[in-house]
Amino acid sequence: MPQTAPLAPTIVVIIGAAGDLARRKLIPALYNLHLDRQLPERFAIVGVARRPLDDDAFRERLRDGVASFSRRTLTEETSWQQFAAALSYLSEDVVSPASGLALSSRLTAIEQAWGQRANRIYYLAVPPEMMEPAAAMLQRLGVCRDCAHDRLVIEKPFGRDLASAQALNRFLGELFVESQIYRIDHYLGKETVQNILAFRFANSLFEPIWNRRYIDQVQITVAETVGVEERGDYYDRAGALRDMVQNHLLQLLCLVAMEPPISFAADDIRNKKVDVLRAIRPFHPDAIHRVAVRGQYRRGTVLGQEVRGYREEPKVAQDSTTETFAAFTFHIDNWRWQGVPFYLRTGKRLPTKVSEIAVLFHEPPHQFFPSAAVESWQPNRIVIRIQPEEGIGTRIQVKQPGTRMLLGTAEMRFRYRDAFRTPTPEAYETLLLDVIRGDATLFMRADQIESAWQVVTPILEAWESVPAAGFSEYAAGTWGPEAADLMVARQRHSWLQPSVGEE
Ligand code: BG6
Repeated sequence: MPQTAPLAPTIVVIIGAAGDLARRKLIPALYNLHLDRQLPERFAIVGVARRPLDDDAFRERLRDGVASFSRRTLTEETSWQQFAAALSYLSEDVVSPASGLALSSRLTAIEQAWGQRANRIYYLAVPPEMMEPAAAMLQRLGVCRDCAHDRLVIEKPFGRDLASAQALNRFLGELFVESQIYRIDHYLGKETVQNILAFRFANSLFEPIWNRRYIDQVQITVAETVGVEERGDYYDRAGALRDMVQNHLLQLLCLVAMEPPISFAADDIRNKKVDVLRAIRPFHPDAIHRVAVRGQYRRGTVLGQEVRGYREEPKVAQDSTTETFAAFTFHIDNWRWQGVPFYLRTGKRLPTKVSEIAVLFHEPPHQFFPSAAVESWQPNRIVIRIQPEEGIGTRIQVKQPGTRMLLGTAEMRFRYRDAFRTPTPEAYETLLLDVIRGDATLFMRADQIESAWQVVTPILEAWESVPAAGFSEYAAGTWGPEAADLMVARQRHSWLQPSVGEE
């Protein structure tokens, strides 16, 4: 294994530390890094939130979070105790102008005890309206001024539309240098998402056929079985387009469609992704109903359980028209992709939880087999499975065994689980370690975020201007409204139904 330099002493300050994100994702991820001995030797976590808690109550809350949500259970008490010793809590109201002094002295005290200036990472795990006050507090205290040592991590949602994202970028740009800002899209930390780059560019097999000449269509599906859970107040103001498409699905699309970067440097990769976003054909307001579909789940049955409809969920308006399903046809106007539709769909309360990218190829240009031989013939496709059962499958045509020439389809499969025995880290583990190392490759640059908003804002505006237009319901446990099928059928295509758990 190559030797890597030891990591600099680091303090992670989680602002909004009493919330769900810290308990469900951030602390379990940091704890797993601790178990894997990946954290710096000198390491501290300071939680900041309004709720009055002492250090012990904070640790206990996080311990519960690790026990419930970590990929590894709390087996060893000593490991948790060692980790917990690095945790402390401060009750501060970041919105108040007097806030932050205790934080500033806590940081100084930790650094004095270590005898050196640490890298400080400020993780803003706060609701959107608190993002600016929290960033302003850091600026006021002067605790995030050193570009080489101090970093700011921002959770989504990053803005509500193009104008608000630009305003937030401008605001942050006045306080910090762009290289200090790490905008998280947790999909980019997923193992299989990162593998798309390796699959496309570390093999010479696929890149020559990765274009309009061979590819007929691309389908990206991110399906969830859960409803809005406890997040009705946030979700009812967001909807699937803001919650999933503007960030996660567009990032997947960028990775599938981008040109090869000239190096692995963060900016070289990010430049190529921005090129894709800029090449997406703008949606014309008059044609939106043909290329964009929205729906909302009503009561139904998911995985054998009866579930309530979206409008019956807590903290959701009873007459809400917020979409819990969205599907789109995108076109990328460049040399490589002209004429290839990219179909994207995502939704809550669908039949199964699955995220995958299906690349479907054209039929061979000349079919010389007798028609009886090709009755069950199907075009080639590559399916990149992001979750669950991470892996890649390729469908090919083969001769069926027997004395006659009959073709059949067969699957060639690569599964992470089978190929590698090592467990896959959670996305937040990868991303947090990258921030600690100062590697921004998997994070969103300001212009990437804005380009993504540029793509979706016309749809948002069209939908918001006429809330009933094109709005339909779907029964929970189905694949969304029929309009999504009609949208692809117009181009004589159909959605590929993901095969989950298939051997
Ligand atoms: C989040 C969304 O960004 O991603 C959630 O806000 C969604 O609504 C979640 O459930 C899905 O992430 P994953 O990793 O479970 O696919």
